[in-house]
Amino acid sequence: MTKNKIKTVRVQKIREECKDIKSFRFNVMDLFKNYEAPLPGQFIMVWVPGVDEIPMSLSSADSEGNWMISVKKVGECTKALHNLSEGDYIGIRGPLGNAFKIPKNKSKNIFLIGGGIGTAPLGFLAQELHKKGHEFTFIEGVKQRSELFLNKNLEDQCGENSNLIFCTDDGSYGVKGFASTIFRNMIQKLTERENLRTVAYTCGPEIMMYETFKICEEFNIPLQASLERIMRCGCGLCGLCALEPLGLLVCKDGPVFPSKILRQIDDFAKYKMDFSGKKISLS
Ligand SMILES: Cc1cc2nc3c(=O)[nH]c(=O)nc-3n(C[C@H](O)[C@H](O)[C@H](O)COP(=O)(O)OP(=O)(O)OC[C@H]3O[C@@H](n4cnc5c(N)ncnc54)[C@H](O)[C@@H]3O)c2cc1C
Ligand code: FES
Repeated sequence: MTKNKIKTVRVQKIREECKDIKSFRFNVMDLFKNYEAPLPGQFIMVWVPGVDEIPMSLSSADSEGNWMISVKKVGECTKALHNLSEGDYIGIRGPLGNAFKIPKNKSKNIFLIGGGIGTAPLGFLAQELHKKGHEFTFIEGVKQRSELFLNKNLEDQCGENSNLIFCTDDGSYGVKGFASTIFRNMIQKLTERENLRTVAYTCGPEIMMYETFKICEEFNIPLQASLERIMRCGCGLCGLCALEPLGLLVCKDGPVFPSKILRQIDDFAKYKMDFSGKKISLS
């Protein structure tokens, strides 16, 4: 299938992850002539007939064509997705966008810092890192226990040798505090040599990603962050996902951006465009 053509797939499995988050699994093998598994960080446009088409990161994908998205119910289209049953059909376009770059060198000290639904693409990244033999620390932060993606899936994706840390803002589960604060506490304890071989990945609320970025800048740690903007076309046509002042498009040039680019984005943690193209504050 061409990436930008909508194709219909049957939802095979729906799993309730936690309050307001469900995962949907489907198989796309028959849609591609020469199937290549998507990479962690990439997203798809999901069309719910009669409702809307919205961007969703892949929370898992394999060489057999099994893809998964994890959806937080926030508005009309995500609510419509939550109302689907196994066997129902959705439209998909993709995989779209770029991906997280995985280190070639096994000796890297790797941190994944996820907030809320941002844990979804990082879970896929964890799966690939684990497959390639990397060990890492995954910090998942949410407001309260009921929002945790506390499931076997994430533990499987991370593997036995990696460190999975849960934290909540209110202390109702795991460590009390923000994921970025826990990241800082861990970074501060590293030796200079460990610090030099550290890399970090983040996805979640933009304010959390910005805090993580500031910590990485302070300690000279390369970061890759997956940004979210309102999207209409998902393929570089409408301009709604543009980042100022570089004019980079989250749908085409992103959604994953490295420190070098993050440093130059004036809008980072400050503004995004609404559906009419008007700039709105992120705070
Ligand atoms: C690259 C990318 C990957 C994403 N991955 C996931 C994911 O894995 N899981 C997930 O649950 N959500 C993800 N999102 C966010 C998801 O697309 C929005 O939550 C969804 O579009 C809301 O649609 P709605 O019709 O339910 O809500 P609406 O009724 O349209 O709006 C509800 C709220 O969501 C905000 N919103 C609407 N559309 C977007 C959008 N495209 N991006 C950000 N905020 C939006 C609105 O400003 C409003 O505050 C991703 C967004 C992007 C850009
Ligand atoms: S969503 Fe239209 S240009 Fe990015």
